[in-house]
Amino acid sequence: MTDAALRARYLDALGIDRWVLRRSPVVTANVAPASESDAWPALVERVAACTRCGLRAGCTQTVFGVGDRAAEWLVVGEAPGAEEDACGEPFTGPAGQLLDAMLAAIDLPRQSVFITNALKCRPPEDRDPRPAELAECLPYLAEQVAMVKPKIILAFGRVAAQNLLATDATLGALRGVVHHYGPSSIPVVVTYHPAYLLRSPGEKRKAWEDLKFARRTHAANDAVPS
Ligand code: URA
Repeated sequence: MTDAALRARYLDALGIDRWVLRRSPVVTANVAPASESDAWPALVERVAACTRCGLRAGCTQTVFGVGDRAAEWLVVGEAPGAEEDACGEPFTGPAGQLLDAMLAAIDLPRQSVFITNALKCRPPEDRDPRPAELAECLPYLAEQVAMVKPKIILAFGRVAAQNLLATDATLGALRGVVHHYGPSSIPVVVTYHPAYLLRSPGEKRKAWEDLKFARRTHAANDAVPS
């Protein structure tokens, strides 16, 4: 099956109109600059050994993140669930399948982005992350952002969005606006969490608008030399 046919299938699965890209997909090298080659494994190790909050005692393993360490797109979710806790990779369960389809719909293969979560450990019974847990874990996300240096951050769901942007605003209020993160003012676009979309498929059309908005934001940012 051609890439175009595959994307059409993803869009059909999302229940949204097909959208034709004018640009070809961005291909990035999966190689970190040499000066950062030690910092990355050191961060992976620190996260794996972390006991800053109580969650590590109750989960199988930390879930650091996966994908292209030099990606232009950084995807941030909430926290690992059962499947992710078992295999050590974010977004591998049903929400992950929808996430992959959403990314593919804007011509982003899973391997071309970097995917991580606000929390690196699974909360028991998949309860909502607590503010104290997030406060301990978010510095790791900040380090990941500093190392990947993405051109855009896509925040999936309320927890990712509110914590990246340090706000209590609702997801609805955060959608459709370009926010900025960190000292480099990296553009952040917010959309619904795929787990929410699985429960509320009627919102998929709005998520599609968000994805197209993100794509435009990335393209506009791409045109400006960094
Ligand atoms: N939901 C998330 O937010 N992250 C995962 O990794 C899996 C499900």
